[in-house]
Amino acid sequence: MTGSASVRLEGIVKRHGAFTALHGIDLDIRPGEFFALLGPSGSGKTTTLRILAGLESVDEGRVMIDNADVTATEPGARDVAMVFQSYALYPHMSVAQNIGFPLKMIGTPPAQVQQAVHDAASRVAIAHLLDRKPGQLSGGQQQRCALARAIVRQPRLFLLDEPLSNLDAKLRLETRAELRNLQRSLGVTAVYVTHDQEEAMTIADRMAVFMEGRIVQVGTPHEIFRKPATATVAAFIGTPPMNLLPARLDGGLVRVGDAALPVGVQGFEDVILGVRPGDLRMGGAGIPARVEFVEDFGDSSIVNLDVAGQRVKLRAGELPSVREGETVHLSFDPAAAHVFDAATGNRL
Ligand SMILES: Nc1ncnc2c1ncn2[C@@H]1O[C@H](COP(=O)(O)OP(=O)(O)O)[C@@H](O)[C@H]1O
Ligand SMILES: [Mg+2]
Repeated sequence: MTGSASVRLEGIVKRHGAFTALHGIDLDIRPGEFFALLGPSGSGKTTTLRILAGLESVDEGRVMIDNADVTATEPGARDVAMVFQSYALYPHMSVAQNIGFPLKMIGTPPAQVQQAVHDAASRVAIAHLLDRKPGQLSGGQQQRCALARAIVRQPRLFLLDEPLSNLDAKLRLETRAELRNLQRSLGVTAVYVTHDQEEAMTIADRMAVFMEGRIVQVGTPHEIFRKPATATVAAFIGTPPMNLLPARLDGGLVRVGDAALPVGVQGFEDVILGVRPGDLRMGGAGIPARVEFVEDFGDSSIVNLDVAGQRVKLRAGELPSVREGETVHLSFDPAAAHVFDAATGNRL
């Protein structure tokens, strides 16, 4: 039976010479959670995962797995399995040998290895490919082989670093759902690194958003989508992401140029107004915007607009009857407006 570990990072600092890759990471991951580390390239996700695996040392802080301090514990003694972006399969070994390798390394008897390999391969639907070499597999099959090798030891913690990024778009979607089902059926805690916000939103129970070596927000995908903590997070989440416009908060109104619209926040300061493309409406009054072009997706469309030199996107259900170059007026429900402090970027 696979256990499921809790994970805690306390004040993790990681430096590379004069460069600080992680500036004090605190994180709590619950047993059985599918937890995503989301952020742009270079924000410190892989470093954090490698620190969890024990592949990277820390300069400050503690790594706790199941309430035990493993900061100084060797990777092999942490009972964790990692899947890399490059699957890191051994090309000269068969699929069966690749999957069984972690068990062989710890001296498991051959008959037991064979059984475990078959079980793991069956779980990811490659039991019919056990005699092949990795070079004879498709990208998706190689990825499954790497997954099987990770689960064969029944680790208590499953670490995945962008495991789907080498797959084409369609296969990525399918494998995403399967990966999620696999994690659920194993009951194992999973920490999943991705720079793809849509992937994190759809696969994770909770996630941490990384920016420049710091965690800026932790929550469920829904919480982070509904209430991004900063303008930077807001700009990173959603497809297309939230529109952000410089504005002035004037009591309970937000002023963009000459237009003033009510918002659910009080104050008098320079702000960044955020409205999701799906929350914008075109109507008689509001913020003037010039129609640039319309993207038609069949069941929905995106109207690209120019507001005082800035691109704004509006999502419409049906193809709206607007002409390029036409001026329209944008409005929104006050509750759909996100207001961020212009100086700090923090949500008001
Ligand atoms: N061995 C290293 N030496 C110097 N800088 C490194 C090293 N490893 C990572 N970094 C830097 O640390 C930052 C975080 O890297 P990483 O954790 O790989 O980011 P992510 O996975 O979010 O793309 C990056 O700026 C990267 O260049
Ligand atoms: Mg990375």
